[in-house]
Amino acid sequence: MAGRIPQSFIDELLARTDIVDLIDGFVPLKKMGKDFKACCPFHDEKTPSFTVSQNKQFYHCFGCGANGTAISFLMEYSHLEFLEAIEEMANKAGLTIPEEVGQPRADGNLSELYELLELVVRFYCKQLREHRQTDRAVDYLKNRGISGEVAKQFELGYAPAGWDNLIQALGTSDAAQQRLARTGMIIKRDNGGYYDRFRDRIMFPIRDPRGRVIGFGGRVLDDDTPKYLNSPETAIYHKGRELYGLYQARRANKDLQRLYVVEGYMDVIALAQYGISNAVASLGTATTREHLERLFRATPQVVFCFDGDQAGARAATRAMETALPLLEEGRQVFFKFLPEGQDPDDYIRQKGTKAFQNLSDLTPLSDYMINIAKDGIDLSSVEGRSLFLKNIRPRLELIPEGVIKQLNVQHIEKITGLSADKIDIRTKSKDQPLPRRRPLYKSDSGKMTNTSWLIAMLLRQPDLALLVEKPEILTQSKEPGVDTLHKMIVLIQEIPRITTGQILERWRESRLNNRLHELSSTEILDDENINLSNDFLHRIDTIAAEIKTATRKTGETNLADASEEHKAYLRNLQK
Ligand code: CTP
Ligand code: MN
Repeated sequence: MAGRIPQSFIDELLARTDIVDLIDGFVPLKKMGKDFKACCPFHDEKTPSFTVSQNKQFYHCFGCGANGTAISFLMEYSHLEFLEAIEEMANKAGLTIPEEVGQPRADGNLSELYELLELVVRFYCKQLREHRQTDRAVDYLKNRGISGEVAKQFELGYAPAGWDNLIQALGTSDAAQQRLARTGMIIKRDNGGYYDRFRDRIMFPIRDPRGRVIGFGGRVLDDDTPKYLNSPETAIYHKGRELYGLYQARRANKDLQRLYVVEGYMDVIALAQYGISNAVASLGTATTREHLERLFRATPQVVFCFDGDQAGARAATRAMETALPLLEEGRQVFFKFLPEGQDPDDYIRQKGTKAFQNLSDLTPLSDYMINIAKDGIDLSSVEGRSLFLKNIRPRLELIPEGVIKQLNVQHIEKITGLSADKIDIRTKSKDQPLPRRRPLYKSDSGKMTNTSWLIAMLLRQPDLALLVEKPEILTQSKEPGVDTLHKMIVLIQEIPRITTGQILERWRESRLNNRLHELSSTEILDDENINLSNDFLHRIDTIAAEIKTATRKTGETNLADASEEHKAYLRNLQK
């Protein structure tokens, strides 16, 4: 399994790869002013608003808001996962990817959590084979028709009954227990000590697309509740983002022509056992935009196949709404509706692989959208057609400008007999599509905090950080974002020639990633009336002054605890 890639290597790779050359190889760029431009490859347009900055090593589209580093470009454009993008760039640059040897990172040592969870997987697998009470677990799996091969492929395990099996095995020191708690596998008791989160459950390890274990699902062996228990949100597990089975699907298929999205762990596993190795599950949550973006990075065709019940139908409607803004040429979305009361697990066991793969019963997303809008409506009446339009309009508006939208409008013209202008869809002019992906940050100094401004300025012109003489004072601030500002200043002072792209890559896995991308696309900074250096230092001083006021206040309240001499000193200060 690949370890973490050292930051220094990512820096090296970004330093050797000029984003302008890289993008120019896919989308021919033209030099305009200090930047390079092209028609945006991520949305449909006639005049170029896609801008690549050689200085910043960053691209940004003013039309749709797509933006990022050279690595992000490869991920988006060539549908690669992070590691694959790194590999491709390394190949081009003639570099070999080194593996990091357990180095801590600025945001806490995450690799030790991944390594620990790897041991947890092995522990639960071993319990399924050897624990004295494992017969019940094995019987359960057999009764559900799960073969040994597929159980092995998905690394199914057993968390034995009892409060401290995992703690006994892997939490033998305080430090080890704290680490286990950070993975969410054990829980702190109010009165001290810990207990195992998962007890007497079948365990499903969840791996991210790079193969790292990030969490678990656990199912009861009977009708107890909750039926499934999942890892909590941790530093490495974010359930709105992960797809169970994606790692296995990518391993089993060199080229994923299609991915099925199902609801449950057992559905993924049953399908795999029946030869359908390209199914993933969104773990007990609705399909999010992040899910879909990840799916489309892996495959051009997504087929939603939810349970044949009311919850499944609701999930399908929501999935449709999430997918509409992401539709573009080359991406296809279908729905496969199952008979009432069946989930994919039941269906494939009953009807077999051929029936599941039968493509004639797939409903294309646009048909589904229309079906929902005309449900219960008589289209032969004027009132019916107007009601239908009222239903479908908000959904059509979600589709980005482009061929797919035009085809849908044409289809609706046929159904209603109305021409496109009568359908009255709020279409923006073709070159100014609705923002999608990350919303373009309309910079407005009134709405931006001082700290956001400072960060935006640094991302535009990193060497401003060299003006700050005592960045450490910033560590005393409790204002949101100041710690990030501090980290960024220190980073730039350490590596003075760092580019915006290199800075951004350090925050790729942070929850601030999107926000930092927005800030690096901020336009207001191009205002020539601002003297950037002065403004920057002035803003830093403001923060420093706020810190001083705050410390003085704390000083007042703590006066009682201070020594006489110290008290006198503080009193003088406060005059
Ligand atoms: N789920 C969950 N918590 C629950 C119930 C469900 O997280 N209490 C998630 C799980 O990821 C589960 C999925 O939702 O796999 C689908 O739930 P459901 O349809 O109830 O389960 P099945 O996959 O059909 O489970 P099984 O066949 O094991 O009963
Ligand atoms: Mn089921």
